[in-house]
Amino acid sequence: MTSGELRQKYLDFFKTKGHAIISSASLIPENDPTILYTTAGMHPLVPFLMGEKHPAGTRLANCQKCIRTGDIEEVGDSTHHTFFEMLGNWSLGDYFKKEAILWSWEFLTDHEWLNLDKKRLAVSVFQGDQDSPFDQESFAIWKKEIGIAEQRIAKLPKKNNWWGLETGGPCGPDTEIFYWAGDADKVPAGFNDDHPLWVEIWNNVFMQYNKKAGKLEPLAKKNVDTGMGLERILAVMNGLADNYQTDLFKNIINRICQLSGQTYGKTPEIDKALRIIADHLKAATFIMADDKAVAPSNTDRGYVLRRLIRRAIRYGRQIGIVNESWTKEIAKVVAHDYQAIYPELSRNINKVIEQLNVEEGKFNKTLEQGLREFEKIIKQGSGKKISGKQAFDLYQSYGFPLEITEELAREQGLSVEVEAFCQELKKHQQLSRTASAGQFKGGLADAGAQTTKLHTAAHLLLAALRKVLGEQVVQRGSNITAERLRFDFSYPTKMTDEQKQQVENLVNQAIKDKLIVDCQEMSLAEAKAFKAHGTFESKYGERVKVYMMGNFSKEICGGPHVDNTGKLGHFKIQKEESSSAGVRRIKAILE
Ligand code: SER
Repeated sequence: MTSGELRQKYLDFFKTKGHAIISSASLIPENDPTILYTTAGMHPLVPFLMGEKHPAGTRLANCQKCIRTGDIEEVGDSTHHTFFEMLGNWSLGDYFKKEAILWSWEFLTDHEWLNLDKKRLAVSVFQGDQDSPFDQESFAIWKKEIGIAEQRIAKLPKKNNWWGLETGGPCGPDTEIFYWAGDADKVPAGFNDDHPLWVEIWNNVFMQYNKKAGKLEPLAKKNVDTGMGLERILAVMNGLADNYQTDLFKNIINRICQLSGQTYGKTPEIDKALRIIADHLKAATFIMADDKAVAPSNTDRGYVLRRLIRRAIRYGRQIGIVNESWTKEIAKVVAHDYQAIYPELSRNINKVIEQLNVEEGKFNKTLEQGLREFEKIIKQGSGKKISGKQAFDLYQSYGFPLEITEELAREQGLSVEVEAFCQELKKHQQLSRTASAGQFKGGLADAGAQTTKLHTAAHLLLAALRKVLGEQVVQRGSNITAERLRFDFSYPTKMTDEQKQQVENLVNQAIKDKLIVDCQEMSLAEAKAFKAHGTFESKYGERVKVYMMGNFSKEICGGPHVDNTGKLGHFKIQKEESSSAGVRRIKAILE
Protein backbone atom coordinates (compact mmCIF):
# COMPACT_ATOMS: atom_id res chain seq x y z
CA MET A 1 0.00 0.00 0.00
CA THR A 2 1.36 3.43 -0.87
CA SER A 3 1.30 6.39 1.51
CA GLY A 4 -1.09 8.14 -0.86
CA GLU A 5 -3.56 5.26 -0.74
CA LEU A 6 -3.33 4.98 3.02
CA ARG A 7 -3.90 8.69 3.70
CA GLN A 8 -6.87 8.65 1.35
CA LYS A 9 -8.36 5.47 2.80
CA TYR A 10 -8.27 6.94 6.27
CA LEU A 11 -9.98 10.16 5.25
CA ASP A 12 -12.53 8.26 3.12
CA PHE A 13 -13.37 5.98 6.03
CA PHE A 14 -14.11 8.86 8.36
CA LYS A 15 -16.07 10.62 5.66
CA THR A 16 -18.42 7.64 5.67
CA LYS A 17 -18.81 8.25 9.41
CA GLY A 18 -19.95 11.83 8.86
CA HIS A 19 -16.61 13.61 9.32
CA ALA A 20 -15.63 16.75 7.44
CA ILE A 21 -12.09 16.55 6.03
CA ILE A 22 -9.96 19.53 6.96
CA SER A 23 -6.55 20.58 5.64
CA SER A 24 -3.36 20.35 7.62
CA ALA A 25 -2.64 23.52 9.57
CA SER A 26 0.72 25.25 9.36
CA LEU A 27 3.72 23.83 11.20
CA ILE A 28 4.08 27.21 12.85
CA PRO A 29 1.47 27.58 15.60
CA GLU A 30 -0.75 30.63 15.46
CA ASN A 31 -0.96 32.88 18.50
CA ASP A 32 0.50 30.36 20.85
CA PRO A 33 3.69 31.22 22.69
CA THR A 34 3.89 27.89 24.49
CA ILE A 35 5.30 25.93 21.63
CA LEU A 36 7.70 26.40 18.72
CA TYR A 37 6.23 23.98 16.21
CA THR A 38 3.00 22.06 15.80
CA THR A 39 3.77 18.83 17.64
CA ALA A 40 0.49 16.93 17.27
CA GLY A 41 -2.71 16.97 15.32
CA MET A 42 -4.54 18.29 18.35
CA HIS A 43 -2.41 21.39 18.66
CA PRO A 44 -4.02 23.59 15.98
CA LEU A 45 -7.41 22.41 17.22
CA VAL A 46 -6.95 23.46 20.85
CA PRO A 47 -9.38 26.42 20.72
CA PHE A 48 -12.07 24.08 19.37
CA LEU A 49 -11.33 21.39 21.94
CA MET A 50 -11.84 24.14 24.52
CA GLY A 51 -15.29 24.94 23.15
CA GLU A 52 -14.89 27.38 20.22
CA LYS A 53 -17.23 26.41 17.41
CA HIS A 54 -15.45 24.84 14.43
CA PRO A 55 -16.90 25.98 11.09
CA ALA A 56 -16.65 22.50 9.57
CA GLY A 57 -18.77 20.94 12.29
CA THR A 58 -18.30 18.62 15.25
CA ARG A 59 -16.77 15.64 13.41
CA LEU A 60 -13.47 16.28 11.68
CA ALA A 61 -10.69 14.19 10.16
CA ASN A 62 -7.31 15.29 8.89
CA CYS A 63 -3.70 14.52 8.15
CA GLN A 64 -1.59 17.03 10.06
CA LYS A 65 2.10 17.75 9.47
CA CYS A 66 4.00 17.77 12.75
CA ILE A 67 7.51 18.49 14.04
CA ARG A 68 8.81 16.99 17.27
CA THR A 69 12.32 17.73 18.40
CA GLY A 70 11.97 16.23 21.87
CA ASP A 71 13.14 12.84 20.57
CA ILE A 72 15.90 14.16 18.36
CA GLU A 73 18.48 11.93 20.05
CA GLU A 74 16.47 8.90 18.99
CA VAL A 75 16.30 9.88 15.35
CA GLY A 76 18.61 7.52 13.52
CA ASP A 77 16.79 4.37 14.61
CA SER A 78 14.12 2.86 12.39
CA THR A 79 11.02 4.53 13.85
CA HIS A 80 11.72 8.03 15.17
CA HIS A 81 11.23 11.16 13.10
CA THR A 82 11.45 14.89 13.56
CA PHE A 83 8.86 15.48 10.83
CA PHE A 84 5.90 13.16 10.63
CA GLU A 85 2.29 13.16 9.55
CA MET A 86 -0.51 12.36 11.93
CA LEU A 87 -3.84 10.98 10.82
CA GLY A 88 -6.58 12.02 13.20
CA ASN A 89 -10.33 11.97 13.70
CA TRP A 90 -11.98 14.43 16.02
CA SER A 91 -15.18 14.69 17.94
CA LEU A 92 -15.85 18.16 19.27
CA GLY A 93 -18.46 17.42 21.90
CA ASP A 94 -20.06 14.88 19.52
CA TYR A 95 -19.38 11.12 19.80
CA PHE A 96 -17.26 9.72 22.60
CA LYS A 97 -15.58 6.49 23.65
CA LYS A 98 -17.85 3.90 22.11
CA GLU A 99 -17.93 5.20 18.55
CA ALA A 100 -14.26 6.16 18.61
CA ILE A 101 -13.15 2.70 19.67
CA LEU A 102 -15.54 0.81 17.39
CA TRP A 103 -14.49 2.88 14.38
CA SER A 104 -10.77 2.51 15.06
CA TRP A 105 -11.28 -1.24 15.18
CA GLU A 106 -13.39 -1.27 12.04
CA PHE A 107 -10.87 0.79 10.09
CA LEU A 108 -7.95 -1.37 11.16
CA THR A 109 -9.53 -4.80 10.76
CA ASP A 110 -12.40 -4.66 8.26
CA HIS A 111 -11.46 -6.26 4.95
CA GLU A 112 -12.73 -3.23 3.08
CA TRP A 113 -10.27 -1.00 4.93
CA LEU A 114 -6.89 -2.03 6.36
CA ASN A 115 -7.76 -5.66 6.96
CA LEU A 116 -5.15 -6.15 9.70
CA ASP A 117 -5.09 -9.52 11.39
CA LYS A 118 -7.10 -9.19 14.63
CA LYS A 119 -4.86 -11.75 16.30
CA ARG A 120 -1.96 -9.32 16.02
CA LEU A 121 -3.69 -6.49 17.91
CA ALA A 122 -3.68 -5.56 21.59
CA VAL A 123 -4.73 -2.47 23.51
CA SER A 124 -4.06 -0.48 26.66
CA VAL A 125 -6.37 1.62 28.82
CA PHE A 126 -5.84 4.07 31.68
CA GLN A 127 -5.64 2.31 35.06
CA GLY A 128 -6.70 5.32 37.11
CA ASP A 129 -5.03 7.34 39.84
CA GLN A 130 -5.88 9.97 42.45
CA ASP A 131 -6.86 12.54 39.78
CA SER A 132 -8.97 10.47 37.46
CA PRO A 133 -10.60 7.02 37.71
CA PHE A 134 -9.85 3.76 35.89
CA ASP A 135 -11.24 3.94 32.35
CA GLN A 136 -13.79 1.23 32.95
CA GLU A 137 -15.85 2.29 29.95
CA SER A 138 -13.07 1.81 27.38
CA PHE A 139 -12.08 -1.43 29.04
CA ALA A 140 -15.64 -2.74 28.77
CA ILE A 141 -15.98 -1.67 25.14
CA TRP A 142 -12.79 -3.50 24.15
CA LYS A 143 -13.70 -6.57 26.11
CA LYS A 144 -17.43 -6.92 25.57
CA GLU A 145 -18.27 -5.12 22.34
CA ILE A 146 -15.13 -5.99 20.43
CA GLY A 147 -14.27 -9.20 22.20
CA ILE A 148 -10.59 -8.69 22.91
CA ALA A 149 -9.24 -11.20 25.43
CA GLU A 150 -8.58 -9.64 28.81
CA GLN A 151 -4.92 -10.62 28.70
CA ARG A 152 -4.57 -8.46 25.61
CA ILE A 153 -5.89 -5.36 27.44
CA ALA A 154 -3.19 -3.70 29.54
CA LYS A 155 -4.16 -1.29 32.31
CA LEU A 156 -1.44 1.31 32.48
CA PRO A 157 -0.65 4.50 34.41
CA LYS A 158 -0.68 8.14 33.32
CA LYS A 159 2.83 7.89 31.93
CA ASN A 160 1.45 5.60 29.20
CA ASN A 161 -2.26 6.24 28.90
CA TRP A 162 -2.89 9.91 29.31
CA TRP A 163 -2.50 12.69 26.79
CA GLY A 164 -2.31 16.47 26.86
CA LEU A 165 0.19 19.19 26.06
CA GLU A 166 2.84 19.73 28.72
CA THR A 167 1.74 23.31 29.00
CA GLY A 168 -1.82 22.41 29.95
CA GLY A 169 -5.16 22.71 28.18
CA PRO A 170 -7.44 19.88 27.05
CA CYS A 171 -6.38 16.41 28.17
CA GLY A 172 -7.66 13.06 29.34
CA PRO A 173 -7.18 9.30 29.47
CA ASP A 174 -6.36 7.48 26.28
CA THR A 175 -6.55 4.02 24.88
CA GLU A 176 -3.79 2.83 22.58
CA ILE A 177 -3.77 0.13 19.95
CA PHE A 178 -0.68 -2.03 19.37
CA TYR A 179 0.31 -4.31 16.52
CA TRP A 180 2.51 -7.38 16.76
CA ALA A 181 5.22 -6.75 14.18
CA GLY A 182 6.95 -10.09 14.66
CA ASP A 183 6.31 -13.41 12.92
CA ALA A 184 2.70 -14.46 12.49
CA ASP A 185 3.30 -17.83 14.14
CA LYS A 186 4.95 -16.24 17.15
CA VAL A 187 2.21 -13.87 18.29
CA PRO A 188 2.17 -14.08 22.10
CA ALA A 189 -1.14 -14.88 23.79
CA GLY A 190 -0.74 -11.98 26.18
CA PHE A 191 0.48 -8.44 25.69
CA ASN A 192 3.51 -6.60 27.01
CA ASP A 193 3.60 -2.99 25.84
CA ASP A 194 7.36 -2.79 26.50
CA HIS A 195 8.21 -5.52 24.02
CA PRO A 196 9.78 -3.92 20.94
CA LEU A 197 7.72 -6.04 18.56
CA TRP A 198 4.45 -4.72 20.00
CA VAL A 199 4.35 -1.36 18.23
CA GLU A 200 1.87 1.32 19.11
CA ILE A 201 -0.07 2.33 16.04
CA TRP A 202 -3.01 4.43 17.20
CA ASN A 203 -3.89 6.58 20.15
CA ASN A 204 -7.49 7.51 21.02
CA VAL A 205 -7.57 10.32 23.56
CA PHE A 206 -10.75 11.12 25.44
CA MET A 207 -10.39 14.76 26.28
CA GLN A 208 -12.66 15.44 29.14
CA TYR A 209 -10.53 17.75 31.30
CA ASN A 210 -8.86 21.12 31.05
CA LYS A 211 -5.53 21.25 32.86
CA LYS A 212 -5.13 24.67 34.38
CA ALA A 213 -2.36 25.62 36.78
CA GLY A 214 -1.67 21.91 37.30
CA LYS A 215 -5.29 21.08 38.21
CA LEU A 216 -7.86 19.13 36.21
CA GLU A 217 -11.24 20.78 35.59
CA PRO A 218 -13.96 18.87 33.74
CA LEU A 219 -14.63 20.25 30.25
CA ALA A 220 -18.17 21.25 29.44
CA LYS A 221 -18.00 19.22 26.23
CA LYS A 222 -16.15 15.94 25.94
CA ASN A 223 -13.95 15.46 22.90
CA VAL A 224 -12.13 12.73 21.05
CA ASP A 225 -8.62 13.30 19.69
CA THR A 226 -7.05 10.40 17.85
CA GLY A 227 -3.61 10.19 16.35
CA MET A 228 -2.08 7.59 14.09
CA GLY A 229 1.43 8.22 12.78
CA LEU A 230 1.34 7.74 9.02
CA GLU A 231 4.96 6.58 8.73
CA ARG A 232 4.47 3.78 11.22
CA ILE A 233 1.14 2.44 10.00
CA LEU A 234 2.48 2.53 6.45
CA ALA A 235 5.44 0.40 7.53
CA VAL A 236 3.04 -2.02 9.27
CA MET A 237 0.85 -2.26 6.17
CA ASN A 238 3.88 -3.17 4.10
CA GLY A 239 5.36 -5.61 6.58
CA LEU A 240 8.40 -3.43 7.15
CA ALA A 241 10.16 -3.01 10.47
CA ASP A 242 11.85 0.14 9.21
CA ASN A 243 9.83 3.29 8.42
CA TYR A 244 12.70 4.51 6.27
CA GLN A 245 12.01 1.77 3.74
CA THR A 246 8.52 3.09 3.02
CA ASP A 247 7.75 5.33 0.08
CA LEU A 248 7.79 8.30 2.47
CA PHE A 249 11.58 7.99 2.62
CA LYS A 250 12.71 5.75 -0.22
CA ASN A 251 13.49 8.39 -2.82
CA ILE A 252 15.12 10.64 -0.26
CA ILE A 253 17.38 7.88 1.02
CA ASN A 254 18.21 6.86 -2.55
CA ARG A 255 19.27 10.37 -3.43
CA ILE A 256 21.53 10.59 -0.35
CA CYS A 257 23.03 7.24 -1.32
CA GLN A 258 23.74 8.54 -4.81
CA LEU A 259 25.44 11.62 -3.43
CA SER A 260 27.52 9.72 -0.90
CA GLY A 261 28.16 6.51 -2.79
CA GLN A 262 26.74 4.55 0.14
CA THR A 263 24.16 1.75 0.21
CA TYR A 264 21.25 1.61 2.62
CA GLY A 265 20.79 -1.52 4.71
CA LYS A 266 24.38 -2.69 4.90
CA THR A 267 26.08 -1.08 7.90
CA PRO A 268 24.24 0.12 11.01
CA GLU A 269 26.47 3.19 11.36
CA ILE A 270 25.93 4.31 7.77
CA ASP A 271 22.19 3.61 8.01
CA LYS A 272 21.98 5.80 11.06
CA ALA A 273 23.65 8.67 9.22
CA LEU A 274 21.43 8.19 6.16
CA ARG A 275 18.31 8.24 8.32
CA ILE A 276 19.38 11.33 10.23
CA ILE A 277 20.13 13.19 7.03
CA ALA A 278 16.84 12.10 5.44
CA ASP A 279 14.84 12.99 8.52
CA HIS A 280 16.50 16.33 9.23
CA LEU A 281 16.45 17.63 5.69
CA LYS A 282 12.84 16.57 5.20
CA ALA A 283 11.89 18.45 8.38
CA ALA A 284 13.96 21.48 7.36
CA THR A 285 12.35 21.53 3.91
CA PHE A 286 8.86 21.50 5.40
CA ILE A 287 9.73 24.24 7.89
CA MET A 288 11.18 26.55 5.24
CA ALA A 289 8.40 25.81 2.77
CA ASP A 290 5.72 26.72 5.26
CA ASP A 291 3.71 29.76 4.26
CA LYS A 292 4.55 31.22 7.64
CA ALA A 293 8.19 31.34 6.60
CA VAL A 294 10.92 30.47 9.06
CA ALA A 295 14.59 30.99 8.17
CA PRO A 296 17.68 29.59 9.93
CA SER A 297 18.81 31.84 12.77
CA ASN A 298 20.20 31.78 16.29
CA THR A 299 16.92 32.01 18.13
CA ASP A 300 13.70 30.12 18.63
CA ARG A 301 12.30 28.32 15.61
CA GLY A 302 15.16 29.49 13.43
CA TYR A 303 17.65 27.79 15.70
CA VAL A 304 15.82 24.49 15.70
CA LEU A 305 15.96 24.70 11.91
CA ARG A 306 19.64 25.64 11.88
CA ARG A 307 20.50 22.65 14.07
CA LEU A 308 18.65 20.29 11.73
CA ILE A 309 20.44 21.56 8.65
CA ARG A 310 23.90 21.71 10.20
CA ARG A 311 23.61 18.29 11.74
CA ALA A 312 22.60 16.87 8.36
CA ILE A 313 25.57 18.57 6.70
CA ARG A 314 27.98 17.14 9.27
CA TYR A 315 26.61 13.63 8.79
CA GLY A 316 26.76 14.09 5.05
CA ARG A 317 30.42 14.89 5.27
CA GLN A 318 30.98 11.91 7.51
CA ILE A 319 29.56 9.46 4.99
CA GLY A 320 31.49 10.92 2.12
CA ILE A 321 29.41 13.63 0.47
CA VAL A 322 31.98 16.00 -0.93
CA ASN A 323 29.81 18.46 -2.84
CA GLU A 324 29.89 22.02 -1.61
CA SER A 325 26.16 22.51 -1.90
CA TRP A 326 24.07 19.36 -1.85
CA THR A 327 21.29 19.75 0.70
CA LYS A 328 19.05 21.37 -1.90
CA GLU A 329 19.11 18.11 -3.87
CA ILE A 330 17.33 16.44 -0.99
CA ALA A 331 14.86 19.31 -0.66
CA LYS A 332 13.96 18.86 -4.33
CA VAL A 333 13.15 15.20 -3.76
CA VAL A 334 11.04 16.06 -0.70
CA ALA A 335 9.14 18.68 -2.68
CA HIS A 336 8.63 16.29 -5.56
CA ASP A 337 7.32 13.46 -3.38
CA TYR A 338 5.01 15.53 -1.20
CA GLN A 339 3.79 18.39 -3.37
CA ALA A 340 0.50 16.76 -4.31
CA ILE A 341 -0.47 16.61 -0.63
CA TYR A 342 1.25 19.80 0.53
CA PRO A 343 1.17 22.30 -2.34
CA GLU A 344 3.18 24.86 -0.34
CA LEU A 345 6.25 22.75 -1.13
CA SER A 346 6.14 23.47 -4.83
CA ARG A 347 5.02 27.04 -4.21
CA ASN A 348 7.99 27.78 -1.98
CA ILE A 349 10.71 25.43 -3.22
CA ASN A 350 12.85 28.22 -4.69
CA LYS A 351 12.96 29.99 -1.37
CA VAL A 352 13.90 26.72 0.33
CA ILE A 353 16.76 26.12 -2.10
CA GLU A 354 18.02 29.65 -1.64
CA GLN A 355 18.00 29.39 2.14
CA LEU A 356 19.67 26.00 2.14
CA ASN A 357 22.43 27.34 -0.08
CA VAL A 358 23.02 30.30 2.21
CA GLU A 359 23.02 28.17 5.36
CA GLU A 360 25.24 25.54 3.83
CA GLY A 361 27.67 28.19 2.59
CA LYS A 362 27.86 29.74 6.06
CA PHE A 363 28.42 26.45 7.80
CA ASN A 364 30.94 25.10 5.29
CA LYS A 365 33.04 28.19 5.81
CA THR A 366 33.50 27.46 9.48
CA LEU A 367 33.06 23.69 9.61
CA GLU A 368 36.60 22.90 8.48
CA GLN A 369 38.16 25.40 10.87
CA GLY A 370 35.87 24.28 13.66
CA LEU A 371 36.87 20.66 13.20
CA ARG A 372 40.54 21.69 13.38
CA GLU A 373 39.79 23.67 16.52
CA PHE A 374 38.05 20.63 17.98
CA GLU A 375 41.10 18.48 17.31
CA LYS A 376 43.26 21.06 19.03
CA ILE A 377 41.00 20.93 22.07
CA ILE A 378 41.31 17.16 22.15
CA LYS A 379 45.10 17.24 21.85
CA GLN A 380 45.52 19.87 24.51
CA GLY A 381 42.84 18.52 26.77
CA SER A 382 43.71 16.51 29.77
CA GLY A 383 40.48 15.17 31.24
CA LYS A 384 37.54 13.31 29.80
CA LYS A 385 35.43 16.40 29.26
CA ILE A 386 35.02 19.24 26.82
CA SER A 387 34.37 22.27 29.01
CA GLY A 388 31.28 24.44 28.68
CA LYS A 389 33.49 27.31 27.61
CA GLN A 390 35.13 25.25 24.84
CA ALA A 391 31.76 24.03 23.59
CA PHE A 392 30.50 27.58 23.65
CA ASP A 393 33.50 28.83 21.65
CA LEU A 394 32.79 26.17 19.04
CA TYR A 395 29.20 27.38 18.94
CA GLN A 396 30.03 31.06 18.90
CA SER A 397 32.98 31.12 16.50
CA TYR A 398 32.32 28.13 14.28
CA GLY A 399 28.56 27.75 14.43
CA PHE A 400 28.62 24.26 15.99
CA PRO A 401 25.28 23.49 17.61
CA LEU A 402 25.78 21.69 20.92
CA GLU A 403 24.65 18.35 19.48
CA ILE A 404 27.48 18.40 16.96
CA THR A 405 30.10 19.04 19.62
CA GLU A 406 28.53 16.32 21.73
CA GLU A 407 28.61 13.87 18.85
CA LEU A 408 32.22 14.68 18.00
CA ALA A 409 33.11 14.28 21.66
CA ARG A 410 31.31 10.96 21.92
CA GLU A 411 33.26 9.65 18.94
CA GLN A 412 36.40 10.33 20.99
CA GLY A 413 34.96 8.77 24.14
CA LEU A 414 34.53 12.19 25.75
CA SER A 415 31.57 14.12 27.11
CA VAL A 416 30.63 17.79 27.15
CA GLU A 417 29.82 19.90 30.22
CA VAL A 418 26.37 20.69 28.99
CA GLU A 419 25.23 22.69 31.97
CA ALA A 420 28.26 24.94 31.84
CA PHE A 421 27.64 25.39 28.12
CA CYS A 422 24.08 26.50 28.83
CA GLN A 423 25.30 28.95 31.41
CA GLU A 424 27.73 30.46 28.93
CA LEU A 425 24.94 30.68 26.46
CA LYS A 426 22.63 32.40 28.89
CA LYS A 427 25.35 34.86 29.70
CA HIS A 428 25.44 35.79 26.06
CA GLN A 429 21.68 35.73 25.80
CA GLN A 430 21.81 34.40 22.30
CA LEU A 431 19.18 31.86 22.63
CA SER A 432 15.89 32.54 24.24
CA ARG A 433 14.18 29.25 23.62
CA THR A 434 15.72 26.07 22.38
CA ALA A 435 13.44 23.30 23.46
CA SER A 436 10.57 22.15 21.34
CA ALA A 437 7.95 22.90 23.89
CA GLY A 438 6.77 24.39 27.01
CA GLN A 439 9.05 26.96 28.54
CA PHE A 440 6.52 29.72 28.81
CA LYS A 441 3.43 30.00 30.84
CA GLY A 442 0.15 31.01 29.33
CA GLY A 443 -0.77 30.46 25.74
CA LEU A 444 -4.08 30.91 24.10
CA ALA A 445 -5.20 27.55 25.42
CA ASP A 446 -5.63 28.64 29.01
CA ALA A 447 -4.75 32.26 28.80
CA GLY A 448 -8.19 33.67 29.06
CA ALA A 449 -9.05 37.30 28.95
CA GLN A 450 -5.81 39.11 28.28
CA THR A 451 -4.58 36.98 25.37
CA THR A 452 -8.00 37.08 23.81
CA LYS A 453 -7.89 40.87 23.89
CA LEU A 454 -4.43 40.93 22.37
CA HIS A 455 -5.61 38.54 19.70
CA THR A 456 -8.40 40.95 18.77
CA ALA A 457 -5.85 43.79 18.83
CA ALA A 458 -3.71 41.79 16.36
CA HIS A 459 -6.58 41.88 13.84
CA LEU A 460 -6.92 45.64 14.27
CA LEU A 461 -3.16 46.01 13.88
CA LEU A 462 -3.08 44.12 10.58
CA ALA A 463 -5.96 46.20 9.22
CA ALA A 464 -4.23 49.42 10.33
CA LEU A 465 -0.89 48.37 8.80
CA ARG A 466 -2.58 47.72 5.49
CA LYS A 467 -4.23 51.12 5.57
CA VAL A 468 -0.97 52.93 6.35
CA LEU A 469 1.63 50.87 4.47
CA GLY A 470 -0.47 49.47 1.65
CA GLU A 471 -2.36 46.38 0.66
CA GLN A 472 0.82 44.39 0.02
CA VAL A 473 1.22 43.90 3.76
CA VAL A 474 0.34 40.38 4.86
CA GLN A 475 0.68 38.67 8.19
CA ARG A 476 3.72 36.41 8.53
CA GLY A 477 3.21 35.16 12.03
CA SER A 478 2.11 36.19 15.45
CA ASN A 479 2.83 35.23 19.00
CA ILE A 480 0.76 36.32 21.96
CA THR A 481 1.43 36.06 25.67
CA ALA A 482 -0.72 37.47 28.44
CA GLU A 483 1.64 40.45 28.50
CA ARG A 484 2.22 41.43 24.90
CA LEU A 485 1.56 40.85 21.25
CA ARG A 486 4.27 40.12 18.71
CA PHE A 487 3.27 40.45 15.10
CA ASP A 488 5.30 39.73 11.95
CA PHE A 489 4.31 41.11 8.57
CA SER A 490 5.77 41.46 5.13
CA TYR A 491 7.26 44.88 4.44
CA PRO A 492 10.66 45.73 3.00
CA THR A 493 11.81 48.68 5.10
CA LYS A 494 11.80 50.12 8.58
CA MET A 495 8.63 52.00 9.45
CA THR A 496 9.00 55.71 10.09
CA ASP A 497 7.94 57.20 13.43
CA GLU A 498 5.09 58.87 11.65
CA GLN A 499 3.83 55.60 10.18
CA LYS A 500 3.98 53.94 13.57
CA GLN A 501 2.03 56.79 15.08
CA GLN A 502 -0.61 56.54 12.34
CA VAL A 503 -1.01 52.82 12.89
CA GLU A 504 -1.32 53.28 16.64
CA ASN A 505 -3.90 56.05 16.15
CA LEU A 506 -5.98 53.97 13.76
CA VAL A 507 -6.06 51.03 16.16
CA ASN A 508 -6.96 53.26 19.09
CA GLN A 509 -9.68 54.91 17.05
CA ALA A 510 -11.14 51.48 16.25
CA ILE A 511 -11.11 50.74 19.97
CA LYS A 512 -12.81 54.05 20.79
CA ASP A 513 -15.44 53.34 18.14
CA LYS A 514 -16.49 50.27 20.13
CA LEU A 515 -16.84 48.12 17.02
CA ILE A 516 -18.94 45.00 17.33
CA VAL A 517 -16.93 41.84 16.70
CA ASP A 518 -19.02 39.55 14.57
CA CYS A 519 -18.25 36.10 13.25
CA GLN A 520 -19.68 34.45 10.14
CA GLU A 521 -19.11 31.05 8.69
CA MET A 522 -18.65 30.70 4.95
CA SER A 523 -16.81 28.73 2.28
CA LEU A 524 -13.26 29.74 1.41
CA ALA A 525 -14.44 31.02 -1.95
CA GLU A 526 -17.03 33.20 -0.25
CA ALA A 527 -14.43 34.50 2.19
CA LYS A 528 -12.21 35.40 -0.73
CA ALA A 529 -15.04 37.17 -2.57
CA PHE A 530 -15.84 38.91 0.68
CA LYS A 531 -12.24 40.20 0.68
CA ALA A 532 -11.40 38.75 4.07
CA HIS A 533 -7.68 38.48 4.83
CA GLY A 534 -5.96 35.24 5.69
CA THR A 535 -4.67 32.08 4.13
CA PHE A 536 -6.73 30.72 1.29
CA GLU A 537 -4.80 27.54 0.81
CA SER A 538 -6.92 24.50 1.40
CA LYS A 539 -7.06 21.15 -0.21
CA TYR A 540 -10.59 20.38 0.78
CA GLY A 541 -12.31 23.74 0.36
CA GLU A 542 -13.60 23.56 3.89
CA ARG A 543 -15.71 26.18 5.58
CA VAL A 544 -14.03 28.93 7.56
CA LYS A 545 -14.93 31.53 10.14
CA VAL A 546 -14.52 35.18 9.22
CA TYR A 547 -14.21 37.65 12.08
CA MET A 548 -15.43 41.16 11.30
CA MET A 549 -14.75 44.21 13.40
CA GLY A 550 -17.10 46.89 12.09
CA ASN A 551 -15.91 47.86 8.63
CA PHE A 552 -12.38 48.04 9.89
CA SER A 553 -11.18 44.45 9.71
CA LYS A 554 -12.25 41.19 8.08
CA GLU A 555 -10.08 38.17 8.72
CA ILE A 556 -10.30 34.41 8.43
CA CYS A 557 -9.60 33.11 11.91
CA GLY A 558 -10.60 30.38 14.35
CA GLY A 559 -11.00 32.77 17.27
CA PRO A 560 -11.53 33.37 20.12
CA HIS A 561 -12.05 37.15 20.25
CA VAL A 562 -13.70 39.71 22.51
CA ASP A 563 -17.19 40.72 21.40
CA ASN A 564 -16.52 44.45 21.21
CA THR A 565 -13.30 46.34 20.46
CA GLY A 566 -14.25 48.84 23.19
CA LYS A 567 -13.00 46.28 25.70
CA LEU A 568 -9.37 46.47 24.67
CA GLY A 569 -7.99 49.51 26.49
CA HIS A 570 -5.19 51.61 24.98
CA PHE A 571 -2.99 50.11 22.26
CA LYS A 572 0.70 50.94 22.21
CA ILE A 573 3.50 49.90 19.88
CA GLN A 574 6.64 49.27 21.88
CA LYS A 575 9.02 48.26 19.15
CA GLU A 576 9.28 47.87 15.40
CA GLU A 577 12.23 45.89 14.12
CA SER A 578 13.44 43.55 11.41
CA SER A 579 12.46 39.90 11.82
CA SER A 580 14.09 38.43 8.70
CA ALA A 581 14.61 39.57 5.12
CA GLY A 582 11.47 41.37 3.98
CA VAL A 583 9.66 40.74 7.26
CA ARG A 584 9.15 43.33 10.02
CA ARG A 585 8.13 42.65 13.59
CA ILE A 586 6.01 44.78 15.92
CA LYS A 587 5.78 44.32 19.65
CA ALA A 588 2.76 45.96 21.20
CA ILE A 589 0.78 46.02 24.43
CA LEU A 590 -2.66 46.99 25.70
CA GLU A 591 -2.52 49.39 28.64
N1 SER B 1 -2.78 13.90 20.68
C1 SER B 1 -2.53 12.50 20.66
C2 SER B 1 -1.12 12.18 20.21
O1 SER B 1 -0.44 13.03 19.71
C3 SER B 1 -3.51 11.78 19.77
O2 SER B 1 -3.68 12.47 18.57
O3 SER B 1 -0.71 11.07 20.34
